[in-house]
Amino acid sequence: MTTLKNPALLKTYLVHPSTSSANSNDRDNNNDSNDNNDNAKRVDVNNPFNGEVIGWVPSHTKQEVEQAVANADSVQASWAAQTAEARSDLLMQWADLIDANLDDLATIMTLEQGKPLKESRGEISYANSFIRWFAEEGKRIYGDVIPAPKASQRISVLKQPIGICAAITPWNFPAAMITRKVAPALAAGCTILVKPAMQTPLSALALQQLADEAGIPKGVLQVVTGDSATVGDVFTQDARIKKLSFTGSTAVGRTLMAQCATTLKKLSLELGGNAPFIVFADADLDKAAEGLIAAKYRNAGQTCVCANRIYVEERIKDEFLAIYLPKVAALKVGNGLSDAVDIGPLINNQAVEKVTSLLKDALDKGANLLTGGDINPLSERIVNPTVISNVTADMDIAHEEIFGPITAIATFQSESEVIAKANDTLYGLAAYFYTKDLARSWRVSEALEYGMVGQNTGLISTAVAPFGGVKQSGFGREGSKYGIEEYLIVKYWCQDIG
Ligand code: SIN
Repeated sequence: MTTLKNPALLKTYLVHPSTSSANSNDRDNNNDSNDNNDNAKRVDVNNPFNGEVIGWVPSHTKQEVEQAVANADSVQASWAAQTAEARSDLLMQWADLIDANLDDLATIMTLEQGKPLKESRGEISYANSFIRWFAEEGKRIYGDVIPAPKASQRISVLKQPIGICAAITPWNFPAAMITRKVAPALAAGCTILVKPAMQTPLSALALQQLADEAGIPKGVLQVVTGDSATVGDVFTQDARIKKLSFTGSTAVGRTLMAQCATTLKKLSLELGGNAPFIVFADADLDKAAEGLIAAKYRNAGQTCVCANRIYVEERIKDEFLAIYLPKVAALKVGNGLSDAVDIGPLINNQAVEKVTSLLKDALDKGANLLTGGDINPLSERIVNPTVISNVTADMDIAHEEIFGPITAIATFQSESEVIAKANDTLYGLAAYFYTKDLARSWRVSEALEYGMVGQNTGLISTAVAPFGGVKQSGFGREGSKYGIEEYLIVKYWCQDIG
């Protein structure tokens, strides 16, 4: 286990060299200061690169999760009553501590998630950008005064915190998907409970530790770990929780939405994608190839906004591939802890099986393998960067979110044909296209049925813009001035002063 610069960070949960066997006795001897239940079941956290146990987290019981809701309930009113500036100051102090611990947080992330260290560092900065953005935005929650229909009336609109919130976050971005929900909630005056994915709970606990050190009052931000069904039942059924924000698959999003129906919680759902990436013949092909590397191979292809279906205009296909293939060949795979590595392992064996079965189905149905297609001997979870062409609509890879490092290329002849193909999916999260033509830019961006469109860029994520989808990619927006609205209620106030 790599040692951290700050030995106090996650001291309880990480397996250190002296206890590297990580057997249950070692773990049971830890003084679990963050978890009052000595009998709590403990769950190991593994490094996806080599399967080694790197730490553990508690598996909280239903009673413990309910206690966390009670803790939030007991401080909700006092947190909401603080000034926006006081909350902002605390968020900024949290962000400063995250910056001060950036290298350690990145190491923890790479150990539990597998992504290359340079991407983990980037994610911690990205995560922190949400905290700083919403620390400022919380000071700008303005209401309205509306001209009334009667002379004796005054009409005002107040925006108030919705109350206790819950967040369920995924393993692909173990820090940023937390701060993107927690920062606007806290800035708006809400308390929040977070359930991180059990593959990557250590980053969440490290963020919570730093939030506690920053002085964010106890109970305002609580991370609960454990079995999804146990935590999910409380998050969806407890009437004290007023809002649930979820990032993950469309299937789980549907279930959560149904479960929340009984308590009618406000929901934000950021679900699956099937992003088209369109290269028109008039595009800057070098830029398009560079953008595709970023949109496809970030986090080994494991993002909801990864390019999934690549459409290249038929007459420039060979020229484009001649630029693109050497760039793919130059990507370095390996243990994310090495600075030179561009692509690490997939999160687990099921992910590898899914990706390899999509690839097999495509090849069986006539796709051409141009590079990759195999598992790297360094780790059973590293799929070598792969490119296939001649992809057709009857292949599973054209419909399912790949979530792995495979570029699946199809061709098209006309703008109307490619727009129809791009929109022929249940999903509507992100779409990308490359063109230099001004009129086409407007036509295509208006016609794409997606919540986010990148033109001449493969990287669109930023704290200042609204992230979210349409169709079965969910609803609600995160980041930007729109992101904080998800944590507010609108109260209309009518006074008669006559
Ligand atoms: C996601 O994969 O859900 C988030 C990706 C991002 O924020 O860029």
